[in-house]
Amino acid sequence: MNSEWYMDAVIYALHVKTFFDGNGDGIGDFAGLTLKLDYLASLGVTCLWLLPFCESPLRDDGYDVAHYERVDPRYGSLADFRRFLDAAHARGLRVVTELVLNHTSDAHPWFQAARRAPAGSSKRNFYVWSDTDRRYAGARVIFRDAETSNWAWDPIARAYYWHRFFSHQPDLNFDNPRVRRAVIKVMRFWLDAGVDGLRLDAVSHLYEREGTSCDNLPETHEYLRELRRIVDGHYGDRVLIAEVNQSPAVTRSYFGEGDECHICFHFPLVPRILAALRRGEASGIADVVRTTADVPAGCQWAVFLRNHDDVSLSAETAAERDFLLASYAPDSRMRLNQGIRRRLAPLVGNDRRRIELAFALLFSLPGTPVIYYGDEIGMGDNVALPDRDGLRTPMQWTADATGGFTTGAVSPIVPPPIDDPEFGYQTVNVAAQSLGDGARDDASASRRASLGASIARMIHTRRKHRAFGRGTIEFLDVRNPHLLAFVRRTADESILVVANLSDAVQLVACDGLPPVERHLAPAAGEPAGTDANGSISMQPISCQWFEISSLRSLTPA
Ligand code: NOJ
Ligand code: CA
Repeated sequence: MNSEWYMDAVIYALHVKTFFDGNGDGIGDFAGLTLKLDYLASLGVTCLWLLPFCESPLRDDGYDVAHYERVDPRYGSLADFRRFLDAAHARGLRVVTELVLNHTSDAHPWFQAARRAPAGSSKRNFYVWSDTDRRYAGARVIFRDAETSNWAWDPIARAYYWHRFFSHQPDLNFDNPRVRRAVIKVMRFWLDAGVDGLRLDAVSHLYEREGTSCDNLPETHEYLRELRRIVDGHYGDRVLIAEVNQSPAVTRSYFGEGDECHICFHFPLVPRILAALRRGEASGIADVVRTTADVPAGCQWAVFLRNHDDVSLSAETAAERDFLLASYAPDSRMRLNQGIRRRLAPLVGNDRRRIELAFALLFSLPGTPVIYYGDEIGMGDNVALPDRDGLRTPMQWTADATGGFTTGAVSPIVPPPIDDPEFGYQTVNVAAQSLGDGARDDASASRRASLGASIARMIHTRRKHRAFGRGTIEFLDVRNPHLLAFVRRTADESILVVANLSDAVQLVACDGLPPVERHLAPAAGEPAGTDANGSISMQPISCQWFEISSLRSLTPA
């Protein structure tokens, strides 16, 4: 058993509905996903994170669960899921799935029973009810473009019920011991089915207490410790992943003392990387990484550039939020709930150098990187679609109709494939990039030249060096605000990472750098050169990885 496998993992997030249709009904499914495992293995990722696939009315893309122990039949059966899981494991790919525990769909039988059960009964109290909509006024409304209150009136129960997200997603009542037991049963169902980990959706909102923000309450942490004890006691190397989109200090608290979640998503890093790319300045990245570098043993951040949601700016200062919105969402259709609903490539103006630089940072900063499907080939988005659908369009496999996603017609439950002139499947697709070949030295020059091939190369390089997943980080003072320089180090190896965030060539003075042993790769952009004095010259918008032998000459920042 590879203990702490998640430290060295490279995670790929996808929704089975939009990945590949195996039976021609226009909806992605487990049979289709299974057919694409070779692609994922050749890209080099080591773990798949599947967005929700349980039975659901799909009013929040599956985060509105109607049955926790059934696969939505549109994607296949539980047997199809098991076949997929076995096939993934056979290729050495781990699989992480969702535990959407804060809320259910209002179509869930628990809610249907609750609204009809006598007030005060345990069945009714599976959810949080009130005679007024004034309680817990300290809790913010998260989906503020869609909802004005966290309470909704139920005409059947003749009472208000509590919901932190859409009003069709009533929150479960964790004060009810039957709820706590029911969620544990669901967790065990999927761990028994063989998944390698569970992402705990919206896990900071489990409890409500008057006079608080109803986030991050001690009771929530206590329940997480209970889940963790079950995982440790019965399920060996499986992992719990916290989805907590808050400040660095609060998010960090979900590691507990190493007795809560193994992994927490590093939400605060995303706006810092975007701001750094825009300003051409590195300091914001170093600041946020420094404040979050210290985590309990066995814990790991999950770092990412984009995911299936908007780029959340809710934890930003007003000034920084305004700067990021003005820079990256000039059209109001690009905005959602104070965030930015765009994919990576369009965010950075489809500038290949910026996409690669962002990935190179993702693969070298501390944490386990998470790639959002399609970003590795530079897929675009569609701001004309509602909510977050515009960045949830079908994976683009070929230049054929529907991007090769289906042999039939794309179902209305799947957002239409992107077909604009810049990002359409006719231009941006896996076949055109042959990225699987990027990892092989014999790949032809044109294939090696594709974005996908570059990303695959970076992943394969990263996987050869444990310092990326496990090493400490030390920032170097290279006295140039456009450059980010740091060393990732384990007892066995040290890797120097230098990134130039500016549009101009920048020199790294040699006295600021440790002696370089071996140039690992131009992680992104053109190779670095040296000038007459031995200084390294960094091409505009680029990143280089070097193996170094000693840290003696480091000047810590
Ligand atoms: C976070 C998920 O990532 C998002 O897509 C969803 O809408 C909310 N949680 C509610 O489940
Ligand atoms: Ca299908």
